[in-house]
Amino acid sequence: MKGFARALGEAEQRLRAAGLTADAAFDALRDTLLARLGSGGAEHPALAGLALPVEEGDLLGLAYERFFPDLFKGRVGQFFTPASVGELLVARLPLGPGVTALDPTCGSGGLLVLAGRTGARVRGMDVDPRMVDLARLNLGLSGLDGPVVQGDFFAAPPDPVDVVVANPPFSVDVRDPGVLARYALAEGAVRASSDVLFMEALERWVKPGGLAGIVIPWTLVANASAERVRARVDGAFRRLALCALPEGVFRPFGGAAGRAAVLWLQRRPCADGPMAYAELEDPGYDVRSTALKPTGTGEIDALRAGRGWRDLDGWLPEAPATAHPPLSAWIGVDTDAVVLDGEASVADLADADRATGELLPRQEAVQGRRAVLKPGQVLVSRMRPALGNVALVPPGPEHVGSPEWIRLVPTHHAHYAFHALRSPAWRAQLPPTTGQTRPRTDPETVLATAVPMPGTALLDRIEALSAGLLEARRRSRARLLALQEAIDAYVSGELDEAALGRRLAELEAE
Ligand SMILES: C[S@@+](CC[C@H](N)C(=O)[O-])C[C@H]1O[C@@H](n2cnc3c(N)ncnc32)[C@H](O)[C@@H]1O
Repeated sequence: MKGFARALGEAEQRLRAAGLTADAAFDALRDTLLARLGSGGAEHPALAGLALPVEEGDLLGLAYERFFPDLFKGRVGQFFTPASVGELLVARLPLGPGVTALDPTCGSGGLLVLAGRTGARVRGMDVDPRMVDLARLNLGLSGLDGPVVQGDFFAAPPDPVDVVVANPPFSVDVRDPGVLARYALAEGAVRASSDVLFMEALERWVKPGGLAGIVIPWTLVANASAERVRARVDGAFRRLALCALPEGVFRPFGGAAGRAAVLWLQRRPCADGPMAYAELEDPGYDVRSTALKPTGTGEIDALRAGRGWRDLDGWLPEAPATAHPPLSAWIGVDTDAVVLDGEASVADLADADRATGELLPRQEAVQGRRAVLKPGQVLVSRMRPALGNVALVPPGPEHVGSPEWIRLVPTHHAHYAFHALRSPAWRAQLPPTTGQTRPRTDPETVLATAVPMPGTALLDRIEALSAGLLEARRRSRARLLALQEAIDAYVSGELDEAALGRRLAELEAE
């Protein structure tokens, strides 16, 4: 996928240089891809000799997104489903020969391709004729077959099937009174959200006992206002599984900070039972970046293999009861701020090492109001629950930082507090946040949580060990930076060989 994204950038530059943008650029790239796959089309001269790793992922979907960025601002909900999320979605469905799968909002057909590869028969539908073309092409390029029709699922509902796979349009306003009149969830309303209507429409598309695997906005899972939608879903379906996706899961694919989940349902009548629940933190790429930066597929692989799930009765886990005193018994909150106009040592959210929680401040020109970060404070990001967003302010000078940090002040054993608050079991105590974007927590919620306390002897050992290890890391980093500086000076001619040797000796002796 990464190779293709890079090649796509190069292709775009070459096509732009040849005077082609938008439709024309997309068509040139599509025809080139088809020509290379021996499926018709003609290679565009501007792309001659450019390697395009045609076997990777939803190429045309990515290309389409690249050349039509305006479409991907959510106007008609055209965000592609990340491949790893699609693979997880498909992995929990009984797809295979003899099963018919439908994607009623198929976009470029990414989910249809994944379903089709299992041997299932596939059928697609999309309101956008260009998407229909893309989905047909994608199926063809993958050696698959199946009808893909242009249609509006609100107006012309498809026939029921064994399995529905879908990533429907989120939060698109539906105002057509003729459409609204057909949905109980829109009764009395002058507008409704596309995702809400989709949930009701799904009842007509899945055969009794059949299954659905769908991507849904987090609002439907967590917001109080969606209680009626959840009740309706529970009446028509059994919830088989729910996987919370991390904030930013669509970010590298044109989406913003939207939150979503994958939900697997079985159409009633069917046996009842608990729902499997999991929270995905790493979908295999960096969710904080708009560029596609692969991380690793370990977590997705585990979930696909059925590891990392727990049983729930409701839609979301309840905060576990704890016998320990709340954090507020030994931790306070600092709110000091300064107004600055000049250089300062700054540490924002991005300056915390996600794996270790070390804070790595940098000198920067700052203007305006900033939070004061004092040594020994434990910083918790308001943006929950992104992994690794708990940091410890190191000993030494104060720094300044973004108001996105909640600054906790433990009265004792700050290192234990820092490590305990980085543990998944602590994060699980934070109640699920509502809202489609910017999941946040606040000091009161954090202070109401609790962690077990080991005995004083163990606490003291944790303090000494953690402080020692962090100090060793700081020293080692400072020496590495000094070594770099010396070599920079040598390369630029400021230091001669003798002076470089002396500098090395100093660093070796430290
Ligand atoms: C989130 S995208 C689908 C992504 C798709 N699963 C993929 O990975 O490419 C939603 C799709 O729904 C389509 N859509 C929006 N409203 C629709 C409607 N009323 N009927 C059918 N399709 C619709 C959009 O054109 C868009 O392609």
